[in-house]
Amino acid sequence: MTSDTVDEQFEADNLTVQIVDRILKERFSARFYLPIPVPRSAIEDIVDAANAGPSGFNMQPWNVYALFGSVKDALVKDMLAAFHADEPSTAKFDNMAVNVPEEFAARRRELGARLYGALGVSQDDLAKKREIQARNFRFFDAPVALIFTLNSQLKEGAWLDLGIFIQGAIIAARARGLEALSTPRYNDIIRTHLNFSPKDIVACGMAMGYADHEQVRQNYVRPAKRSLEEVLHIVGA
Ligand SMILES: Cc1cc2nc3c(=O)[nH]c(=O)nc-3n(C[C@H](O)[C@H](O)[C@H](O)COP(=O)(O)O)c2cc1C
Repeated sequence: MTSDTVDEQFEADNLTVQIVDRILKERFSARFYLPIPVPRSAIEDIVDAANAGPSGFNMQPWNVYALFGSVKDALVKDMLAAFHADEPSTAKFDNMAVNVPEEFAARRRELGARLYGALGVSQDDLAKKREIQARNFRFFDAPVALIFTLNSQLKEGAWLDLGIFIQGAIIAARARGLEALSTPRYNDIIRTHLNFSPKDIVACGMAMGYADHEQVRQNYVRPAKRSLEEVLHIVGA
């Protein structure tokens, strides 16, 4: 390889570094979407890219359902009815909703304060808070709803695999100008709408679409991330 091609290679790699880091750092949870349809081909390309990700023993334990139009609307209708009827979650895994250690609970409180505070809702305005929570079950009016499922016979390692797959989808979406946000799930209601194996459980829902950046700017202050010093523990260097 000549020095020219080494330089060219370096430049190309450097650009890749900039793009990838930018996508990772500038992505955010979009809770406001434009009513612009997402082409089916974009979802296919995004999932195709995520599907190339690594998994323990190459088991690839994920499935993802992409809901459009009337199929999405019918699910939203049923989930909203369940939410308004105060039906309990039917999530098939423990998402640590209670007894969260203080370190993590503090971040959760901070997020709540930011989400409701930015929308001008006081912490004790329960009716308004519920109205905002209901938006979760509408997938924040995003044009596409994704449902990620996992085989329930697999152990914790499969959740790692799925998390990597989901992040792959988020990055691939961001690269196409689409934003994504994980949402809650009513496992049993979703099962009635999608024909997935009884061995599979809903791990995560996701809204995906083109963000309404003006609304985001007005209503969302992204929560702080932990500092590098706090997270990275370099030893032996
Ligand atoms: C597994 C998972 C579930 C989430 N569930 C919700 C949710 O139900 N509602 C919501 O508004 N945000 C949800 N989020 C988004 C987080 O609140 C968000 O990622 C976090 O506050 C950091 O903000 P950022 O994504 O803008 O960097 C979820 C994120 C993940 C990874």
